[in-house]
Amino acid sequence: MAAAFATLAALAACPPAAAQAQAPPRAVDEVEVLHFWTSGGEAAALAKLKATLRAEGHHWKDFTVADGGGGLAMMMLNSRVVSGNPPTAAQIKGAAIQEWARNDRLASIDEVARGDQWNTLLPATVSDTMKYHGRYIAAPLNVHRVNWLWINPAALKKANAKPPATWDEFFAVADAMKKAGLVPVAHSGQSWLDMGAFESVAIGVGGVEFYKRAFLRLDPSALISPEMEKTLATYKRLKSYTANTGAGHDWVAATAMLTSGQAGMLMMGDWAKAEMRAGGKRPGVDVLCVPMPDTAGAFTFDIDALAMFQVNGRDKQAQQDLARAVMDKDFQQEFNLAKGSIPVRLDVKLDKFDDCAKRSGLDFKSSARRGTLLPSLAHGMAQPSHTVARMWDVISQFWAQDKMSAHEAMTRLAEAARADAR
Ligand code: BGC
Repeated sequence: MAAAFATLAALAACPPAAAQAQAPPRAVDEVEVLHFWTSGGEAAALAKLKATLRAEGHHWKDFTVADGGGGLAMMMLNSRVVSGNPPTAAQIKGAAIQEWARNDRLASIDEVARGDQWNTLLPATVSDTMKYHGRYIAAPLNVHRVNWLWINPAALKKANAKPPATWDEFFAVADAMKKAGLVPVAHSGQSWLDMGAFESVAIGVGGVEFYKRAFLRLDPSALISPEMEKTLATYKRLKSYTANTGAGHDWVAATAMLTSGQAGMLMMGDWAKAEMRAGGKRPGVDVLCVPMPDTAGAFTFDIDALAMFQVNGRDKQAQQDLARAVMDKDFQQEFNLAKGSIPVRLDVKLDKFDDCAKRSGLDFKSSARRGTLLPSLAHGMAQPSHTVARMWDVISQFWAQDKMSAHEAMTRLAEAARADAR
């Protein structure tokens, strides 16, 4: 699946104008949006955007690719663009937005952004990734926090334990849960979640500066280091606390394992909250949220955005309306209440949000001040898609193959990360 991220380079060879000429004509006012929001909670959040666009007279058409994390969706997007028939907009992430823009595939929404003063509404960390050569080409929907640990309070009680703040505490709680007959960690068989857990372990074990050196700067002395080997060993140690659920066990099923009380803890970003709510659980009350062990001062972010593709002239108005709707203040509140994330606009109050979102909002701002706001590697915010894909492969294989040592995984990870530099 990781390979799904790795095909943008092929586009350079395909001239946009020629490809566009072969595209079948699109219906007037049709807004076709490629996305991977197919779970109950995700679809409920998106329904709010569809309703706005429909009320403005546009015909919303879904191009959904069921696959949490979006790897398969990116593969489908590539094939749509290469065949000269891009969607009106697609849900894509930080580094990939820049890659599509560099390949001259994205349409400007700068007029809307300037008119509505997005520069004053968005933190610079966000607006920078939504622009190419100073012009907006994507509209941000939210900020998801990745380094969350979710805990079932009944399981905690059964194990007579407290929420862990450090890795030592985490393993002590996990042992107590095991003894109490529970699965300590609900884990999904999907590889994008392996990578998400791994990056949180790296911050906890090696620290924020280590994360920056290893994953933002791809510094060889951090990629091959005692901290990296310890990160990999700690990450692999988690496996014995998970149930052997197999590849079909997706993130929604893993979340259900936690909320049903079968498992005690879950390492996942806050999109899991939408599923908890859909299952009648209140985040912060029925399910506890704490930062992943030893990462309390850090915030790894994953920002969902809609990028507009170069399509025929008739879609232009729809793209502008879509961009305006995404950044509307009320919409930002409604969408994020349903999605589990926090609004990306700095002026939306969090009064109506649950305690986990409130904590997320505070931590987002304080980590930005302290220099501990970190782009998520797993979610395509930190490195080009092909680099993430290669690293992702190594981490998934290491998780799956019991014979691979942490040392070997470290060597392979460093090679994967530095492949472009050779
Ligand atoms: C996206 C979320 C989505 C989750 C599960 C993440 O990569 O940012 O919006 O809900 O994957 O599909």
